[in-house]
Amino acid sequence: SHDLSLFVMHGRANVHLARGVAEVLGIEPVSCTAEDFPDGEIHVRLLESVRGGDVFIVQPVDPPIAQNLLELMLLSDAVRREGAFRVTAVIPYLGYSRQDRRSCSGEPVGARVIADILNSGFDRLITVDLHKQSLEGFFAIPVEHLSAVSLLAQTLQKNLPDNPVLVAPDLGAAKLVNQYAEILDLPVAYLYKVRKSGKEVSVRSIVGNINGFSPILVDDMISTGGTMMKGVEALLAGHCLPDVTLVASHGLFVGKAMENLEKLPLKKVIVTDSISQENRPLEMAIEVAGLQLLIAEIITRLHE
Ligand code: R5P
Repeated sequence: SHDLSLFVMHGRANVHLARGVAEVLGIEPVSCTAEDFPDGEIHVRLLESVRGGDVFIVQPVDPPIAQNLLELMLLSDAVRREGAFRVTAVIPYLGYSRQDRRSCSGEPVGARVIADILNSGFDRLITVDLHKQSLEGFFAIPVEHLSAVSLLAQTLQKNLPDNPVLVAPDLGAAKLVNQYAEILDLPVAYLYKVRKSGKEVSVRSIVGNINGFSPILVDDMISTGGTMMKGVEALLAGHCLPDVTLVASHGLFVGKAMENLEKLPLKKVIVTDSISQENRPLEMAIEVAGLQLLIAEIITRLHE
């Protein structure tokens, strides 16, 4: 495939990241337009040829999830019809990953529905820190599952408080937190979170020593910030220091996130740019670790 031309293109979900990736690769993103029609339909149009090319479309499936997903599928259809040889979806954040199983009867398996849609439009998928490793099995196409852990751990290293303890805000994050612990050689504590509803969680108990420590809570994503907020409240009640760091691969910051997080004694919030952090009205000290090198590297490897 050495003689295939390499193309990077993007929809509207994360232009900044796509440009960053293209810049590392030393190419310009494919010129195309995407706009909303008055009735809500999305219109995309390719303005240059990708015939015979190896095309990578960068578009996280983040809110507005349905639009971003549909726009991605429209782009895929457009480049196929223009004769692209191979089309790879670069989806640094994949929405619906948390619907990887049915928690009660009458529910769909949302992640499977999304996977089937993507299977139909792409030859391959590149993604970052899926909610669960096993989601790869939902796809019929090959999945390159990248980890942002070492990138985030490096960023964290530069922002470490004096007496740090890594904290898993729920048991689902335990493995992830241990990866950080190994890289940074730090102690770990675990919170036992119970979910009352999609919006409400509470912490039942703390495992490990946090008294007098500055907690660093690590999770795969911050959505409404409810998990982090409840976690920090429980840690403060257990006499941790009011010097809190949050780390997550994906920063969605939806719903009451800003309100929830603003109440906390946050020193730093560290996320990647899997979801665009441009134009976020962030009052808090946010540090964004760019994924462009990681993604450019895998694109180069797959292309060659
Ligand atoms: C849940 O299993 C995830 O790993 C996150 O802990 C959670 O979904 C984050 O959502 P929120 O910020 O709304 O609590």
